[in-house]
Amino acid sequence: MKTYEESIEACKDLNELEKIRLKIFGKKGFFSGEFARLKSLKGEEKKELANSLNSAKDSLTNLLNEKKEKLELEFINSSMQKESVDVSLFNASTSSGALHPVYETMNKIIDYFVGMGFAVEEGPLAEDDFHNFEALNLPKYHPARDMQDTFYFDDGMLLRTHTSPVQVRTMLSQKPPIRMICPGAVFRRDFDLTHTPMFHQVEGLVVEPGNSVSFANLKFILEDFLKYIFGDIKVRFRPSFFPFTEPSAEVDISCIFCKGDGCRVCSHTGWLEVLGCGVVDQNVFKAVGYSDVSGYAFGLGVERFAMLLHQIPDLRSLFEGDLRLLEQFK
Ligand code: PHE
Repeated sequence: MKTYEESIEACKDLNELEKIRLKIFGKKGFFSGEFARLKSLKGEEKKELANSLNSAKDSLTNLLNEKKEKLELEFINSSMQKESVDVSLFNASTSSGALHPVYETMNKIIDYFVGMGFAVEEGPLAEDDFHNFEALNLPKYHPARDMQDTFYFDDGMLLRTHTSPVQVRTMLSQKPPIRMICPGAVFRRDFDLTHTPMFHQVEGLVVEPGNSVSFANLKFILEDFLKYIFGDIKVRFRPSFFPFTEPSAEVDISCIFCKGDGCRVCSHTGWLEVLGCGVVDQNVFKAVGYSDVSGYAFGLGVERFAMLLHQIPDLRSLFEGDLRLLEQFK
Protein backbone atom coordinates (compact mmCIF):
# COMPACT_ATOMS: atom_id res chain seq x y z
CA MET A 1 0.00 0.00 0.00
CA LYS A 2 2.60 2.48 1.12
CA THR A 3 4.77 1.69 -1.91
CA TYR A 4 1.82 2.33 -4.28
CA GLU A 5 1.18 5.70 -2.64
CA GLU A 6 4.84 6.57 -2.94
CA SER A 7 5.12 5.59 -6.59
CA ILE A 8 2.02 7.64 -7.44
CA GLU A 9 3.54 10.56 -5.58
CA ALA A 10 6.84 10.24 -7.42
CA CYS A 11 5.34 9.70 -10.86
CA LYS A 12 6.27 12.34 -13.47
CA ASP A 13 4.30 11.56 -16.58
CA LEU A 14 0.90 10.34 -17.69
CA ASN A 15 2.07 7.12 -19.36
CA GLU A 16 3.89 6.04 -16.27
CA LEU A 17 0.84 6.88 -14.15
CA GLU A 18 -1.31 4.64 -16.33
CA LYS A 19 1.13 1.78 -15.79
CA ILE A 20 0.87 2.25 -12.04
CA ARG A 21 -2.93 2.34 -12.25
CA LEU A 22 -2.94 -0.99 -14.09
CA LYS A 23 -0.65 -2.50 -11.47
CA ILE A 24 -3.16 -1.52 -8.78
CA PHE A 25 -6.55 -1.80 -10.51
CA GLY A 26 -5.87 -3.87 -13.65
CA LYS A 27 -7.21 -7.40 -14.21
CA LYS A 28 -4.02 -8.94 -12.88
CA GLY A 29 -3.38 -6.09 -10.48
CA PHE A 30 -3.18 -5.82 -6.72
CA PHE A 31 -6.89 -5.44 -5.94
CA SER A 32 -8.18 -8.23 -8.13
CA GLY A 33 -5.69 -10.55 -6.37
CA GLU A 34 -6.72 -9.34 -2.93
CA PHE A 35 -10.46 -9.53 -3.66
CA ALA A 36 -9.97 -13.06 -4.97
CA ARG A 37 -8.31 -13.93 -1.68
CA LEU A 38 -11.50 -12.86 0.17
CA LYS A 39 -13.28 -15.91 -1.15
CA SER A 40 -11.12 -18.25 0.91
CA LEU A 41 -11.73 -16.31 4.16
CA LYS A 42 -14.64 -16.40 6.57
CA GLY A 43 -16.33 -14.36 9.31
CA GLU A 44 -14.50 -11.49 11.05
CA GLU A 45 -11.33 -12.02 9.10
CA LYS A 46 -13.19 -11.67 5.80
CA LYS A 47 -15.05 -8.59 7.00
CA GLU A 48 -11.85 -6.87 8.18
CA LEU A 49 -9.98 -7.46 4.95
CA ALA A 50 -12.97 -6.34 2.88
CA ASN A 51 -13.22 -3.11 4.87
CA SER A 52 -9.55 -2.29 4.63
CA LEU A 53 -9.43 -3.13 0.93
CA ASN A 54 -12.40 -0.85 0.22
CA SER A 55 -10.95 2.10 2.06
CA ALA A 56 -7.55 1.55 0.41
CA LYS A 57 -9.31 1.42 -2.96
CA ASP A 58 -10.99 4.77 -2.27
CA SER A 59 -7.87 6.53 -1.14
CA LEU A 60 -5.74 5.20 -4.03
CA THR A 61 -8.46 6.18 -6.54
CA ASN A 62 -8.46 9.72 -5.16
CA LEU A 63 -4.71 9.88 -5.20
CA LEU A 64 -4.56 8.67 -8.80
CA ASN A 65 -7.19 11.14 -9.96
CA GLU A 66 -5.51 14.09 -8.29
CA LYS A 67 -2.18 13.15 -9.77
CA LYS A 68 -3.70 12.67 -13.20
CA GLU A 69 -5.28 16.11 -13.16
CA LYS A 70 -2.01 17.66 -12.05
CA LEU A 71 0.04 15.93 -14.74
CA GLU A 72 -2.51 16.82 -17.45
CA LEU A 73 -2.37 20.46 -16.50
CA GLU A 74 1.43 20.40 -16.54
CA PHE A 75 1.35 18.74 -19.96
CA ILE A 76 -1.01 21.38 -21.40
CA ASN A 77 1.03 24.23 -19.96
CA SER A 78 4.31 22.94 -21.26
CA SER A 79 2.96 22.17 -24.74
CA MET A 80 1.38 25.62 -24.94
CA GLN A 81 4.75 27.12 -24.14
CA LYS A 82 6.54 24.96 -26.68
CA GLU A 83 3.99 25.49 -29.44
CA SER A 84 3.27 29.17 -28.99
CA VAL A 85 3.29 31.23 -32.20
CA ASP A 86 4.94 34.59 -32.32
CA VAL A 87 2.37 36.51 -34.34
CA SER A 88 4.59 39.56 -34.47
CA LEU A 89 7.28 37.65 -36.35
CA PHE A 90 7.53 38.74 -40.02
CA ASN A 91 7.55 35.87 -42.47
CA ALA A 92 9.20 37.00 -45.70
CA SER A 93 7.80 34.03 -47.63
CA THR A 94 4.20 35.22 -47.16
CA SER A 95 2.84 36.86 -50.30
CA SER A 96 -0.41 38.68 -50.82
CA GLY A 97 -3.07 37.72 -53.34
CA ALA A 98 -4.86 40.03 -55.73
CA LEU A 99 -8.26 40.34 -57.34
CA HIS A 100 -8.58 38.75 -60.76
CA PRO A 101 -8.46 41.51 -63.40
CA VAL A 102 -12.05 40.71 -64.45
CA TYR A 103 -13.34 41.28 -60.91
CA GLU A 104 -11.13 44.29 -60.36
CA THR A 105 -12.59 45.83 -63.51
CA MET A 106 -16.13 44.82 -62.58
CA ASN A 107 -15.72 46.45 -59.15
CA LYS A 108 -14.53 49.65 -60.77
CA ILE A 109 -17.60 49.70 -63.04
CA ILE A 110 -19.93 48.93 -60.12
CA ASP A 111 -18.31 51.70 -58.04
CA TYR A 112 -19.16 54.30 -60.66
CA PHE A 113 -22.83 53.36 -60.92
CA VAL A 114 -23.34 52.89 -57.18
CA GLY A 115 -21.93 56.40 -56.79
CA MET A 116 -24.62 57.56 -59.26
CA GLY A 117 -27.39 56.04 -57.15
CA PHE A 118 -27.86 52.73 -59.01
CA ALA A 119 -28.85 49.63 -57.01
CA VAL A 120 -26.99 46.36 -57.68
CA GLU A 121 -29.28 43.42 -58.52
CA GLU A 122 -28.49 39.76 -59.17
CA GLY A 123 -30.38 36.84 -60.73
CA PRO A 124 -30.06 33.14 -61.61
CA LEU A 125 -27.58 31.86 -64.23
CA ALA A 126 -30.03 29.21 -65.46
CA GLU A 127 -33.00 31.07 -66.89
CA ASP A 128 -36.24 30.34 -68.71
CA ASP A 129 -37.18 31.51 -72.16
CA PHE A 130 -39.55 34.19 -70.88
CA HIS A 131 -36.99 36.13 -68.84
CA ASN A 132 -34.06 35.72 -71.24
CA PHE A 133 -35.91 36.32 -74.55
CA GLU A 134 -39.68 36.58 -74.64
CA ALA A 135 -40.08 39.52 -72.23
CA LEU A 136 -37.26 41.33 -74.02
CA ASN A 137 -39.26 41.59 -77.23
CA LEU A 138 -37.67 38.45 -78.67
CA PRO A 139 -40.57 36.13 -79.47
CA LYS A 140 -39.92 32.50 -80.50
CA TYR A 141 -38.37 32.15 -83.98
CA HIS A 142 -37.44 35.84 -84.04
CA PRO A 143 -34.29 36.05 -86.19
CA ALA A 144 -32.55 38.27 -83.66
CA ARG A 145 -32.26 35.26 -81.34
CA ASP A 146 -29.40 34.15 -83.59
CA MET A 147 -27.39 37.13 -82.32
CA GLN A 148 -26.87 35.15 -79.14
CA ASP A 149 -25.88 31.50 -79.53
CA THR A 150 -27.59 29.86 -76.61
CA PHE A 151 -26.79 26.84 -74.41
CA TYR A 152 -30.06 24.97 -73.82
CA PHE A 153 -30.90 22.31 -71.22
CA ASP A 154 -33.09 19.35 -72.15
CA ASP A 155 -36.02 20.74 -70.17
CA GLY A 156 -36.12 24.00 -72.16
CA MET A 157 -34.24 26.04 -69.57
CA LEU A 158 -31.09 27.81 -70.75
CA LEU A 159 -27.92 29.50 -69.54
CA ARG A 160 -28.61 33.22 -69.65
CA THR A 161 -27.03 34.83 -72.70
CA HIS A 162 -26.98 38.28 -71.12
CA THR A 163 -27.82 39.83 -67.73
CA SER A 164 -30.95 41.49 -69.16
CA PRO A 165 -33.23 38.82 -67.54
CA VAL A 166 -32.23 40.36 -64.21
CA GLN A 167 -33.71 43.63 -65.44
CA VAL A 168 -36.94 41.80 -66.31
CA ARG A 169 -37.02 40.19 -62.86
CA THR A 170 -36.38 43.55 -61.18
CA MET A 171 -39.20 45.23 -63.14
CA LEU A 172 -41.56 42.37 -62.27
CA SER A 173 -40.83 42.67 -58.56
CA GLN A 174 -40.50 46.47 -58.19
CA LYS A 175 -42.29 49.61 -59.28
CA PRO A 176 -40.71 52.59 -61.07
CA PRO A 177 -38.62 54.58 -60.45
CA ILE A 178 -35.93 51.95 -61.05
CA ARG A 179 -32.23 52.64 -61.26
CA MET A 180 -30.25 49.44 -61.29
CA ILE A 181 -27.25 47.58 -62.65
CA CYS A 182 -26.88 43.82 -62.90
CA PRO A 183 -23.31 42.47 -62.95
CA GLY A 184 -22.68 38.77 -63.52
CA ALA A 185 -21.63 35.82 -65.65
CA VAL A 186 -23.32 35.07 -68.98
CA PHE A 187 -22.93 32.21 -71.48
CA ARG A 188 -22.76 31.93 -75.26
CA ARG A 189 -21.58 29.27 -77.72
CA ASP A 190 -18.52 31.17 -78.88
CA PHE A 191 -14.78 30.60 -78.59
CA ASP A 192 -12.00 32.59 -80.26
CA LEU A 193 -9.49 35.37 -79.61
CA THR A 194 -12.17 37.75 -78.33
CA HIS A 195 -14.94 35.36 -77.19
CA THR A 196 -15.20 32.73 -74.42
CA PRO A 197 -18.28 30.57 -73.66
CA MET A 198 -18.55 32.28 -70.27
CA PHE A 199 -17.93 35.96 -69.73
CA HIS A 200 -19.21 38.79 -67.57
CA GLN A 201 -21.53 41.68 -68.23
CA VAL A 202 -22.71 44.72 -66.40
CA GLU A 203 -26.04 45.95 -67.69
CA GLY A 204 -27.99 48.94 -66.47
CA LEU A 205 -31.60 50.05 -66.49
CA VAL A 206 -33.36 53.27 -65.57
CA VAL A 207 -37.16 53.53 -65.57
CA GLU A 208 -39.19 56.58 -64.56
CA PRO A 209 -42.95 57.22 -64.53
CA GLY A 210 -44.13 59.37 -67.47
CA ASN A 211 -41.95 60.23 -70.46
CA SER A 212 -39.15 62.05 -68.66
CA VAL A 213 -36.31 59.67 -69.62
CA SER A 214 -34.72 60.32 -72.99
CA PHE A 215 -31.74 59.32 -75.08
CA ALA A 216 -30.04 62.51 -73.85
CA ASN A 217 -29.99 61.17 -70.26
CA LEU A 218 -28.46 57.93 -71.51
CA LYS A 219 -25.84 59.78 -73.53
CA PHE A 220 -24.82 61.93 -70.62
CA ILE A 221 -24.30 59.12 -68.13
CA LEU A 222 -22.47 56.83 -70.55
CA GLU A 223 -20.06 59.54 -71.65
CA ASP A 224 -19.35 60.42 -68.05
CA PHE A 225 -18.91 56.73 -67.17
CA LEU A 226 -16.53 56.01 -70.06
CA LYS A 227 -14.36 58.99 -69.16
CA TYR A 228 -14.28 57.79 -65.55
CA ILE A 229 -13.02 54.38 -66.71
CA PHE A 230 -10.74 55.25 -69.65
CA GLY A 231 -9.71 58.82 -68.89
CA ASP A 232 -9.32 61.43 -71.60
CA ILE A 233 -11.10 59.88 -74.61
CA LYS A 234 -13.67 60.81 -77.24
CA VAL A 235 -17.05 59.05 -77.25
CA ARG A 236 -19.35 58.49 -80.22
CA PHE A 237 -22.80 56.88 -80.57
CA ARG A 238 -23.54 54.79 -83.69
CA PRO A 239 -27.09 53.74 -84.65
CA SER A 240 -27.60 50.02 -84.09
CA PHE A 241 -30.27 47.44 -83.40
CA PHE A 242 -31.35 45.57 -80.27
CA PRO A 243 -34.80 44.00 -79.99
CA PHE A 244 -35.33 45.46 -76.50
CA THR A 245 -34.40 49.09 -77.24
CA GLU A 246 -35.60 51.65 -79.76
CA PRO A 247 -33.71 53.68 -80.77
CA SER A 248 -30.56 51.63 -80.16
CA ALA A 249 -26.91 52.55 -80.37
CA GLU A 250 -23.47 51.11 -80.08
CA VAL A 251 -20.91 53.26 -78.31
CA ASP A 252 -17.30 53.67 -79.39
CA ILE A 253 -14.40 55.34 -77.63
CA SER A 254 -11.40 56.79 -79.42
CA CYS A 255 -8.67 54.13 -79.44
CA ILE A 256 -6.74 54.32 -76.16
CA PHE A 257 -3.65 52.81 -77.79
CA CYS A 258 -3.16 55.07 -80.83
CA LYS A 259 -5.25 58.01 -79.61
CA GLY A 260 -7.42 57.71 -82.71
CA ASP A 261 -4.63 57.63 -85.33
CA GLY A 262 -5.38 53.99 -86.24
CA CYS A 263 -3.55 50.86 -85.10
CA ARG A 264 -3.88 47.05 -85.06
CA VAL A 265 -6.10 46.99 -81.95
CA CYS A 266 -8.71 49.35 -83.45
CA SER A 267 -8.38 47.76 -86.93
CA HIS A 268 -7.05 51.12 -88.13
CA THR A 269 -10.39 52.84 -87.54
CA GLY A 270 -9.29 54.91 -84.55
CA TRP A 271 -12.35 53.69 -82.61
CA LEU A 272 -13.07 50.84 -80.16
CA GLU A 273 -16.60 49.52 -79.63
CA VAL A 274 -17.36 49.19 -75.91
CA LEU A 275 -21.11 49.33 -75.22
CA GLY A 276 -24.62 48.62 -76.46
CA CYS A 277 -27.52 50.80 -75.35
CA GLY A 278 -30.83 52.35 -76.17
CA VAL A 279 -34.21 53.66 -75.07
CA VAL A 280 -36.26 50.77 -73.69
CA ASP A 281 -38.78 49.43 -76.23
CA GLN A 282 -42.39 49.85 -75.06
CA ASN A 283 -42.96 46.13 -75.82
CA VAL A 284 -40.59 45.30 -72.94
CA PHE A 285 -42.64 47.46 -70.57
CA LYS A 286 -45.82 45.76 -71.80
CA ALA A 287 -44.35 42.33 -71.05
CA VAL A 288 -43.73 43.27 -67.40
CA GLY A 289 -47.07 45.04 -67.00
CA TYR A 290 -45.79 48.64 -66.95
CA SER A 291 -47.57 51.50 -68.67
CA ASP A 292 -46.86 55.24 -68.93
CA VAL A 293 -43.16 54.84 -68.20
CA SER A 294 -39.94 55.63 -70.04
CA GLY A 295 -36.43 54.34 -69.62
CA TYR A 296 -33.01 53.55 -71.00
CA ALA A 297 -30.78 50.48 -70.83
CA PHE A 298 -27.18 49.62 -71.61
CA GLY A 299 -24.91 46.61 -71.48
CA LEU A 300 -21.19 45.99 -71.61
CA GLY A 301 -18.73 43.09 -71.49
CA VAL A 302 -16.41 43.25 -68.49
CA GLU A 303 -13.65 41.15 -70.10
CA ARG A 304 -13.46 43.59 -73.01
CA PHE A 305 -13.00 46.48 -70.57
CA ALA A 306 -10.33 44.52 -68.66
CA MET A 307 -8.50 43.68 -71.90
CA LEU A 308 -8.46 47.30 -72.99
CA LEU A 309 -7.48 48.64 -69.56
CA HIS A 310 -4.63 46.16 -69.14
CA GLN A 311 -3.69 45.64 -72.81
CA ILE A 312 -4.37 41.89 -72.76
CA PRO A 313 -4.38 40.66 -76.38
CA ASP A 314 -6.12 37.27 -75.97
CA LEU A 315 -9.38 37.11 -74.00
CA ARG A 316 -8.88 33.40 -73.30
CA SER A 317 -5.76 34.12 -71.22
CA LEU A 318 -8.05 35.67 -68.57
CA PHE A 319 -9.43 32.19 -67.83
CA GLU A 320 -6.29 30.05 -67.96
CA GLY A 321 -5.25 30.79 -64.37
CA ASP A 322 -1.62 31.32 -65.42
CA LEU A 323 0.17 32.86 -62.43
CA ARG A 324 2.57 34.75 -64.70
CA LEU A 325 -0.41 36.77 -65.92
CA LEU A 326 -2.23 37.03 -62.60
CA GLU A 327 0.81 38.12 -60.58
CA GLN A 328 1.06 41.27 -62.67
CA PHE A 329 -2.13 42.54 -61.06
CA LYS A 330 -0.93 42.63 -57.45
N1 PHE B 1 -28.36 42.66 -73.63
C1 PHE B 1 -27.47 43.14 -74.66
C2 PHE B 1 -26.46 42.05 -74.98
O1 PHE B 1 -26.14 41.27 -74.16
C3 PHE B 1 -26.74 44.39 -74.26
C4 PHE B 1 -27.66 45.55 -74.18
C5 PHE B 1 -28.30 45.85 -73.02
C6 PHE B 1 -27.88 46.36 -75.30
C7 PHE B 1 -29.17 46.91 -72.95
C8 PHE B 1 -28.73 47.40 -75.23
C9 PHE B 1 -29.37 47.70 -74.09
O2 PHE B 1 -26.00 41.97 -76.07
